[in-house]
Amino acid sequence: MSETPQPADLIVFGGTGDLSMRKLLPALYHSDRDGRLSPETRVIAMSRGGLDDADFRGKVDAEVRGSVPVDDLGTWQRFLGRLHHVTVDISGQDPTGWARLAGMLGGHEHRDRVFYLASPPMTFGPFCREAHRAGLVTPASRVVLEKPLGRDLASALRINDEVGAIFDERQIYRIDHYLGKETVQNLLVLRFANAFLEPIWNSLWIDHVQITVAETVGTPGRRGYYDHAGALRDMVQNHLLQLLCLVAMEPPSRNDRESIRDEKVKVLQSLRAVTGGEVDRFTVRGQYTAGESGGVAVPGYLDEPDNTAPTEDSHRVETFAAIRAEVKNWRWAGVPFYLRTGKRMPYRCSEIVVQFKDVPHSIFPGSTPNRLVLRLQPSEGIQLNIMAKEPGAGEVALKPVPLGLSFAETFTGRVPEAYERLLMDVLTGNPTLFMRRDEVEAAWRWIDPILDEWESRGTVPEPYPAGSAGPAAAHELVGRSGRVWHEEGLA
Ligand code: BG6
Repeated sequence: MSETPQPADLIVFGGTGDLSMRKLLPALYHSDRDGRLSPETRVIAMSRGGLDDADFRGKVDAEVRGSVPVDDLGTWQRFLGRLHHVTVDISGQDPTGWARLAGMLGGHEHRDRVFYLASPPMTFGPFCREAHRAGLVTPASRVVLEKPLGRDLASALRINDEVGAIFDERQIYRIDHYLGKETVQNLLVLRFANAFLEPIWNSLWIDHVQITVAETVGTPGRRGYYDHAGALRDMVQNHLLQLLCLVAMEPPSRNDRESIRDEKVKVLQSLRAVTGGEVDRFTVRGQYTAGESGGVAVPGYLDEPDNTAPTEDSHRVETFAAIRAEVKNWRWAGVPFYLRTGKRMPYRCSEIVVQFKDVPHSIFPGSTPNRLVLRLQPSEGIQLNIMAKEPGAGEVALKPVPLGLSFAETFTGRVPEAYERLLMDVLTGNPTLFMRRDEVEAAWRWIDPILDEWESRGTVPEPYPAGSAGPAAAHELVGRSGRVWHEEGLA
């Protein structure tokens, strides 16, 4: 792995799509602006769009320039100059686009070559076959697969086999952009670069853990994707389970590509299966109905504007999911991990809450157990609630007070977007923050029985009004054991 990126060709399939315009191209521009791209690096967008290089540059100029800081026109022009577009057909019927791409890449076989598949998972296998057939897959090539990787274990295995028939596992980068977020990486530093937490990071001291990813956005214009995904596939199978892994994993022996992933996969394999009748007790699914978001009236999921009408699937799909998970190993026996995620929640808030047990013997009335809150977004930071005495004579009165670290206040300067970090890692050949095949498959192995049970019942998710903190059953899920969700963000 080299720190200075070498000249590379980054080929983005789905290069004119939403992800590319909103995340990938802005991230690449920032890297370029910071001098982290080699002058010869090219970005080649592939799509069915029939654009030429000038059209594509014009599109990026119109759609991306407003979302990035262009303080110097020269840098922006240099960035645009890196961009190219090739029209391709992955059905294998029309080889002209592939031939054109081969012409562009010819003579540059020594460069790092990255194929970024920002496209639906069913295109991954066909893309790799065609790229191979066109002779484009060199030993220095890598392929990046966007989530979701399949829609269940069977499809994930098939896709992994298809991609694995062309690329070695060391060349495959399965992206989960949560792993590129600064605070998520900070979780590893907090746990493994500080001595005081590790001795109490277990079931002796920790009562339970909550992982919440709440979004205010709905799904307008996404019905085609979302009806077949739902919150469990879209968020829990990847982002939330990855966060759970980072909280629950054992200390790795090294900070290298395999050690961290080895430990994460062990956590996934230790998750207690939720099957049959337990699915009712340990999971909740909801779908938002009309309500308010940020003081504005918004429609329910079924009435979101879209160019397709709602179907049977739309009625059944969940926009909210909550699960009580357990990690069955020595460290975590008996500690529930509550996961929840939802669209159209009252606030945007992603956080991990580690709730400690009460002191073994309390000599002060009114003490409450310590709580560590790791806020991923917005206002990234870490807060530990400790008990302190309120100043004053007479009776000792206790008050929980926060010991806090705000990243924005402590570390000035721009916080890079997750995609920026991850794209640089791909270009420098560092797969540590990407998911290995066995990780993705282990995650599906745990999710599949829940999906099967939900689907076999044919019931609809519990409604919750947009702008509320999810269905009532989610509160019962934690309330049954006398616990409550940490609602500071989600009043
Ligand atoms: C994506 C999901 O992976 O993550 C989206 O497909 C979701 O549905 C998004 O909105 C959330 O990402 P972030 O970085 O905004 O929390």
